[in-house]
Amino acid sequence: MSARRLARAAGVDDVQAEARRVLPRTVRDFVEGGAEDEITIARNRAALQGISFRPRALVDVSRRSQATTLLGTPVDSPVVLAPVGLAALAHPTGEVAAARAASEAGVVSTLSSSSAWSLEDVARSCAGPKWFQLYIWRDRALTRRVVERAQQAGFRALCLTVDVPVAARRTRDLRNGFTVPPRPRADQALDLLRHAGWFRRLAVSELSGHRLTMGNFTSADLGARDRLRMMDVVNELFDPTVGWADVTWLKELWDGPLVVKGVMTADDARRSVDAGADAVWVSNHGGRQLDGLRGSADVLPEVVAAVGGQAEVYLDGGVRRGSDVVKALALGARACMIGRPWVYGLAAGGQAGVERVIELLRVEIDSTLALLGRPTLESLDPGAVIGAGSP
Ligand SMILES: Cc1cc2nc3c(=O)[nH]c(=O)nc-3n(C[C@H](O)[C@H](O)[C@H](O)COP(=O)(O)O)c2cc1C
Repeated sequence: MSARRLARAAGVDDVQAEARRVLPRTVRDFVEGGAEDEITIARNRAALQGISFRPRALVDVSRRSQATTLLGTPVDSPVVLAPVGLAALAHPTGEVAAARAASEAGVVSTLSSSSAWSLEDVARSCAGPKWFQLYIWRDRALTRRVVERAQQAGFRALCLTVDVPVAARRTRDLRNGFTVPPRPRADQALDLLRHAGWFRRLAVSELSGHRLTMGNFTSADLGARDRLRMMDVVNELFDPTVGWADVTWLKELWDGPLVVKGVMTADDARRSVDAGADAVWVSNHGGRQLDGLRGSADVLPEVVAAVGGQAEVYLDGGVRRGSDVVKALALGARACMIGRPWVYGLAAGGQAGVERVIELLRVEIDSTLALLGRPTLESLDPGAVIGAGSP
């Protein structure tokens, strides 16, 4: 996407439209899609859109700020890049570009343990604050080594994702026969040719030695597969026996804040805090795991109440506007994470595209705070909104 077109984007939707133009169908489906009937994806948007604002008039909003702290780290905006596995599918610069964009914008980025670039490459790429997301593998020695590497590399927080006990059935990927790297079928070849720019970038990157795979693991760790079929990787290599004792295990292993990602009930929020979590991340994996869940914003009030200020609470799922972030913060979240939006930016313009997405949200948060008569994040409270938490 040219710099001019990125600058003209009036919201995340425009960046998504550009990403759709750039990405071949199978990759677009991998990023945009979710589990089964994608009910949860729709509910994430519906839950946020169902919340209304209650503005305060005649408030001096000439001085506004969206600066805050997350787990003790000062940030310029309460938006965090969520972990996205194999982000280099969208653009070869992948997770390195995302971390640099976040660093430039003064926000936190979270690296997926299933990243294409290695955690060491990402850690070296910029100075900004970074968190590391973990899946627990059946091979516990390997899991421990990855955690130790992330600690060594300087990641500030460890986020354990708890909503992937097994792979979900992602309808679009099943239909497309999606693998990494993609192996186009005869009926997909024409679509690939239509997206020659994407294909050329991938080919150049592969030729320069950057094979598109899970960069934190060796080929042997991954079962020496020629191509990765994500369902097989999850079902064969990830540990379906993970339990609360493992949160305690990680709390001991990791010297720093621990975040539990993928909490969707008050009960699990409480158990997370009891097991030592410093933050609870309300998420349904962007509708990519269990289908038929509530929208994450509908769950937020009960989680905030259950946590009772003993840990930070975050929210992701369907956040596409700065106003979505303000709604979640009014309900007690300390930050909102974005997944697909930054991948759209990456596909559309590499690092500059991710920077543009963060900037769009920053500007929208700013204007929402002004229009709402709540000029700072501290001035937000549940009275600023109405309508969340339908049972
Ligand atoms: C392509 C893709 C890959 C993802 N990979 C991971 C991952 O490796 N680990 C993880 O915890 N979450 C992963 N997620 C979920 C995101 O971290 C986040 O919870 C979700 O995308 C938020 O919803 P949103 O996309 O509507 O913003 C992934 C999401 C997408 C779209």
